[in-house]
Amino acid sequence: MKLTIIGTGYVGLVTGTCFAEVGHQVICVDNNESKVKLLQAGGIPIYEPGLEEMVKKHVANGRLRFTASTKDGVENSDIIFIAVPTPPQPDGSVDLSYIEGVAREIASAMTSYKIVVDKSTVPVKTGDKVAETIKRYCKAKVEFDVVSNPEFLREGFAVEDLMKPDRVVIGVRSQRPVAAMRDVYTPFNAPIIVTDINSAELIKHAANSFLALKISYINAVSVICEASGANVQEVANGIGLDARIGRRFLDAGLGFGGSCFPKDLSAFIKISEQLGYDFALLKEVQRINAGQMERFFKKITDTLWVLKDKKIAVLGLAFKQNTDDVRSSPAIDLCQRLQKEGAILRVHDPKAMDKAKDILKNVTFVEDMNEVAEGCDALVIATEWPDFKKLDLERARKALTHPILFDGRNLFDPLEMEKLGFIYKSVGR
Ligand code: UGA
Repeated sequence: MKLTIIGTGYVGLVTGTCFAEVGHQVICVDNNESKVKLLQAGGIPIYEPGLEEMVKKHVANGRLRFTASTKDGVENSDIIFIAVPTPPQPDGSVDLSYIEGVAREIASAMTSYKIVVDKSTVPVKTGDKVAETIKRYCKAKVEFDVVSNPEFLREGFAVEDLMKPDRVVIGVRSQRPVAAMRDVYTPFNAPIIVTDINSAELIKHAANSFLALKISYINAVSVICEASGANVQEVANGIGLDARIGRRFLDAGLGFGGSCFPKDLSAFIKISEQLGYDFALLKEVQRINAGQMERFFKKITDTLWVLKDKKIAVLGLAFKQNTDDVRSSPAIDLCQRLQKEGAILRVHDPKAMDKAKDILKNVTFVEDMNEVAEGCDALVIATEWPDFKKLDLERARKALTHPILFDGRNLFDPLEMEKLGFIYKSVGR
């Protein structure tokens, strides 16, 4: 099938590439010309495991191409996916101006029937607005359908999530686009759910908010574990084996971050408010999340007391493992809090240091994780990178002026760490 994806961010680029992987003919459009040039030359603007090889393969075999022209994308495809950012506004609502802008561009380029699919995360009822906009700006007055097809990929596992989705949601206003949308996704062998467009949009906000709620729940339980001497990982294992609960997304830590959960929670709370409901449960999820960072930071100040001029090593800058994304990263937040108190930082991340350099100033970026603790008063683990489990602990202990390790992601076993001579503080254990 001939497909166009507008926006080559984490969602758009991976979606386009995976569509090419299953045999579709794909055009990826981005209005950032330098990004398009980079992609055309075989460069990848983001780190996502497995992506680079796939992009190269499909550019070479002609199934994937990049352009800065929306007109090119619209004229040469039957289905156009919108995958542009929907950033938060100060009041928690979503800035839909990129969606609106793209809808207008698509409308003015349309000369025959098209299916316009929204993949970006948007508040319920956005599809109706997109349809109105296209109708208004389409001079050719051709027929079209608007579809909502939310994306559920996780950064760092995006290729895997896209190639083997748990489900595909297709929200429609009429039956006309359903067969073509099914054809797009048939090669992925996943359950396909067809709903009305408002339900599809809500599924996305409801799913992300539920996952965030799960994390805040276990983080709240971690507070009780700490106060009572229980171990939150054992509690998570114990409750997670109940199939109704499930073990995934029950890891206590520094709280959730990234470009999705914080933004989507705020947006869901805001749209609920506009629809006349005070979603207080989700406000509590936000409050617990913020408290988790406060408590961890207090653990550091309770132990080290005055932070001014203390040297602190931080492992992890990305908002989670397997990504170079530092947007709304709890690790960056923690670094900034430490700096605000006058601490001097040495930091390392396997993939996110380049992106962190734009945000974190006056820190020493260390290429080798085993060198980060050199001469520091304490070591902090802020991101759950599996690599950090391979840290040379003996070397780290000797490199620290005091063997203090704050583990914000519960990567190590407290008893083992004590045996190795560390003063080890983690979360909920
Ligand atoms: C999330 C959802 O998981 C995806 O399904 C969704 O498609 C995506 O948002 C989106 O809306 O685009 P993502 O933000 O990439 O994906 O990352 P997650 O793996 O969900 O992690 C989010 C945050 O929760 C991270 O900061 C992570 O460290 C934290 N987390 C996750 C925990 O603290 N504990 C856990 O048990 C799991």
